[in-house]
Amino acid sequence: MKKIPFNYFTYEADKEEVARVCNDNFEDNGKYTQSCRKTLEKLTGAQTALLTDSCTNALEMAAILCDLKPGDEVIMPSYTFVTGATAFVMRGAVPVFVDCLPETMNIDPEAIETAITCKTKAIVVMHYAAIACDMKCIQAIAAKYNLCVIEDAAQCIGATYYGKYLGTFGSFGAISFHYTKNIHCGHGGCLLINDPEVVERAKVVWQKGTNRESFCEGKVDKYTWQDIGSSYVPSEFVAALLHSQLSRIAQITSTRVKIWNAYHDYLKNLDQSIGVQLPSVPKGCQHNGHMYFLRMPDEDMKLSLKEYLSVHGIDAVSHYVPLHDSPAGKRFGRVGSDMTVTSSHYNRLLRLPLWPGMLDQVPRICELISDFFIKK
Ligand SMILES: Cc1ncc(COP(=O)(O)O)c(C=O)c1O
Repeated sequence: MKKIPFNYFTYEADKEEVARVCNDNFEDNGKYTQSCRKTLEKLTGAQTALLTDSCTNALEMAAILCDLKPGDEVIMPSYTFVTGATAFVMRGAVPVFVDCLPETMNIDPEAIETAITCKTKAIVVMHYAAIACDMKCIQAIAAKYNLCVIEDAAQCIGATYYGKYLGTFGSFGAISFHYTKNIHCGHGGCLLINDPEVVERAKVVWQKGTNRESFCEGKVDKYTWQDIGSSYVPSEFVAALLHSQLSRIAQITSTRVKIWNAYHDYLKNLDQSIGVQLPSVPKGCQHNGHMYFLRMPDEDMKLSLKEYLSVHGIDAVSHYVPLHDSPAGKRFGRVGSDMTVTSSHYNRLLRLPLWPGMLDQVPRICELISDFFIKK
């Protein structure tokens, strides 16, 4: 029996590029980092892209750049990754958790508007499975109440909404290049900065709170401490790996989208017959094939399908545990809306394996899923 892991990757095609770094005279923000930055700016259309060690670091930079004060409120989905909240809590802000939409698991724009108070300063959106949130509506709300929008676009490299890249709608977009993502370098990320007014400050925060970037650009003759910041610039080894991966983004994305479509075509029939909910892609959204997920009729069915697939060598996994119900979520944040969708969907959600090279395994996985329901 052939085992199918949830995620699989190899850096075989990237080895040469990384080995080259050993022979180069490299320093922070060297030629690989700069080249990745340019590639990301060109690809996404963002004003500036700063590489970081992780998407978490990029979110932390965004939280600094929003200039939040202790007690300021930041509205975010409860159904998201934990560092979408910690980045803001570290600045003293209060996360206000709201519900998501049943179709996409993305933040519910109506819930955002209901949760706004005079303390609200920002909205953090997270595009689940690289399927865009309703950015038209969210941007209109942000403009109406003068709020900063931060996009947690961790999963979204290459995905668009009405032709515009995810991560470029808000003032800031944070992308992950962790090894579980489409394009990866072990552990890496990037902050897209779309507000020209904060670019210079962002570079200072990025470079340990100094104006080293201006020094490197020949604008000042020495660099000094200017602001708060940290060591966010990744090493050139990481950047070289990312550089190699980015050169293959079109091929990687189209391979993943093919696998996503194959799952969708096979499973469409189940959807109608037994109440399994497949991902829905709203108008205007072009995802990047990052993730294929099912929502089962109830948690017990989810657990039994997971077990059934596991017995047959297939690794399917759950996802986020809602933040509003977590110990730290209760301590640092508050609930800003009804949580019916979040609470009733998260524990029914199951992600299927999806990685380049497994297209021929999709029929076997889907047949097993189908068998599971026939035996029920
Ligand atoms: C939505 C979301 N945001 C942020 C992160 C954190 O990314 P990183 O591991 O690059 O810090 C993840 C990780 O999977 C995520 O799913």
